[in-house]
Amino acid sequence: MGKTIIISNRLPVQLQISNGTLNAIPSVGGLATGMKSVHSGGESLWIGWSGLTDEDTPKELESDIDSALKEHGCAKVKLNSDEIDGFYYGFSNRTIWPLFHYFLKYSEFELNYWDTYKKVNQKFADAIIKNSDEDDTIWIHDYQLMLVPQMVREKRPDTTIGFFLHIPFPSFEIFRTLPWRDEILEGLLGSDLIGFHTYDYERHFLSSVRRLIGLDVSFNEIYLDNRVIKVDSFPMGIDYKKFRDAAISHESKSQDERSDLQVRLDNHKASAPDTKLILSIDRLDYSKGIAKRINAFEYFLQKYPEYKEKVRLIILAVPSRSNVPQYQLLKKEVDELVGRINGELSTINWTPIWYFYRSLPFESLIDLYTSSDIAWLTPLRDGMNLVAKEYIATRTDKSGVLILSEMAGSAYEMNEALLINPNNFEQQADTLKRAFNMPMEEQVSRNTFLQKRLERYNVEVWANEFMNALKENRDLGQAFISEKMSPQILMSIEEAYTASKKRLLFLDYDGTLAGFHKDPQQASPDEELYELLDELHQQKNTTVFLISGRDKETFGRWFLPKKYNMIVEHGVWISRNGDDFKLLEQVKSGWMSKIRPVLESFVDRTPGSFIEEKNYSLAWHYRNTDPDFGTKRATELNTVLRSLIGNDDISVLNGNKVMEVKSSNVNKGRAATRMLSEDDYDFVFAIGDDWTDEFMFQELPDSAVTVKVGLKKTQAKYHVENTKRVRQLLKRFTKQ
Ligand code: ADP
Ligand code: G6P
Repeated sequence: MGKTIIISNRLPVQLQISNGTLNAIPSVGGLATGMKSVHSGGESLWIGWSGLTDEDTPKELESDIDSALKEHGCAKVKLNSDEIDGFYYGFSNRTIWPLFHYFLKYSEFELNYWDTYKKVNQKFADAIIKNSDEDDTIWIHDYQLMLVPQMVREKRPDTTIGFFLHIPFPSFEIFRTLPWRDEILEGLLGSDLIGFHTYDYERHFLSSVRRLIGLDVSFNEIYLDNRVIKVDSFPMGIDYKKFRDAAISHESKSQDERSDLQVRLDNHKASAPDTKLILSIDRLDYSKGIAKRINAFEYFLQKYPEYKEKVRLIILAVPSRSNVPQYQLLKKEVDELVGRINGELSTINWTPIWYFYRSLPFESLIDLYTSSDIAWLTPLRDGMNLVAKEYIATRTDKSGVLILSEMAGSAYEMNEALLINPNNFEQQADTLKRAFNMPMEEQVSRNTFLQKRLERYNVEVWANEFMNALKENRDLGQAFISEKMSPQILMSIEEAYTASKKRLLFLDYDGTLAGFHKDPQQASPDEELYELLDELHQQKNTTVFLISGRDKETFGRWFLPKKYNMIVEHGVWISRNGDDFKLLEQVKSGWMSKIRPVLESFVDRTPGSFIEEKNYSLAWHYRNTDPDFGTKRATELNTVLRSLIGNDDISVLNGNKVMEVKSSNVNKGRAATRMLSEDDYDFVFAIGDDWTDEFMFQELPDSAVTVKVGLKKTQAKYHVENTKRVRQLLKRFTKQ
């Protein structure tokens, strides 16, 4: 097992040069602060941008930079200022960030930004390849690097790659507006495991994958060629112990050891013991709802004027992305709001808002967390919000009230906080009043639950769960139910084929010899396929059967003139060497008139679905429906049919986007074994892609070579990726 490589745009430290000397300062933001704890604990290398552009870096400092980063277990990706403009300020923070936080109107769709984003993602991918070995585990982070998983996969197909998105994944309706939506999804699908903070983000992602690129999704697994990609939610925790210990040591400080900030906070408390401090800490970002919060505070003081001079709001806004116009406008708006409200409401003894626009050292954060009676966090959208968790962790005596927006990912796990809708001023004013007056007993009871959960599900557990799931998925992929058709296996099958005296081949049609088509009638064989089948058909001592659920009319039209052997409708009809179709099984059809109206009612209610009527079966196709809706309807139909058919001799088959109702005594396995018993075959081969082919895989003898198309649970021995590979494989038989 190799090392873990962490990749994110921001490294845990940012380098700055002042007066020719290099300084490393800690990064802010949930990703860097959270992952820092994971990184410092283990054997890992963290690759990212140093915070300096090429233009800002004097040549003579290059090696100092590398050593400074090395000290922190980091390696750099070099970026010039044009790249930072297009990739970081551009596509990442003017396109994706607003879009994924539902600020559609701020999102800019600029081709230049996209081109630079691609270019820079490739740089990160190249840095990974350069700095890692084949057996390392790659963990890529966040929205700035969504193309990297696929870019690495292309060069290292067998490497284990995890991806975690630290921001929300928006609903399909929002995501679909992005011009490069397919490329983004394909980029992410290079991963083995994709993690989100909450189940909702996961659900939105899966829905986009289904709807936009039409991949097969089963629960939280996506099937793509020969890989299974797992999608799951892992709510990020904090380094609980670090915050708790910092708070404990903070409380044990003597008067002289206190910071200036703490002295100021203490003086304030001493001068007005019946007042309360309300704290909010965020990066200065429109997604955090800072301006709205200030307006809500003003509304609170208007609604409940008795709290004037009793509360003070401390706003710590950390400078962020200040080259992006929306952030500049927000800065102006917040400055003006604070100025106006303080101007209007301040008294000699009281300033309602203390506003800090700067990044503070860790110790100051602890001063603020431990001194504030209430934390008030009102993001309009937030992937997680770690500040909420950090505040609770520092409350050593379990006092303190957390007021948290429902729109933050952390609200899902922090039900004991006072949850609010940041757009509802009435509710917020009442909640502030409630928080102000909350009895200590209630505070302690709520925080006891919260702290227990934060302590248990800390950042280390979060990272371990992600890594274990990644490892599990890799093992599952390697030992996946059927074995991949490797060149060695192929060779041994060819040898057995050549050495055999009598061969029997069963070939499924749709999804195996030919791809799927919106209209099944359109999926007719192409010239290349006819040629291949002709060649197989002409092989000596070889009986080839096309075996399909299709109706005899369609297959008759396509293949009867070619005189191929065919078994259709899952084994109801057979035709050999161009003869008319004959019944292979005696089947009942009386049930069809009862089931047809049921299927018709589902067609009426499910746009895009239709019924295919065969001689002895009825199939409801839903490939062309809305994928989520179609799957939901299929589950519903399944329940209805099963309750209707009871113990009758009818069964329901769930095929690939089709549900077929047919007599139970007919299936491909039964038909195939009947053919097998007709002669002394010493090489038996069956290939197919869906559920109906499993009957063959199951019932043919162990010595048979059974092959599944696609990576799904199967009883077949081997699998190949797609129809292209099927044709290549069969072509090899014709060369023997
Ligand atoms: P986001 O990731 O959107 O910035 P989070 O609340 O998840 O929001 O994470 C913010 C992180 O940045 C927290 O871990 C917090 O401790 C840290 N942080 C916030 N403000 C400061 C500051 N002024 N100085 C240092 N770190 C800060
Ligand atoms: C959020 C993002 C991170 C980002 C952080 C700080 O937490 O999810 O990827 O690093 O904000 O933003 P910045 O633009 O300064 O890196």
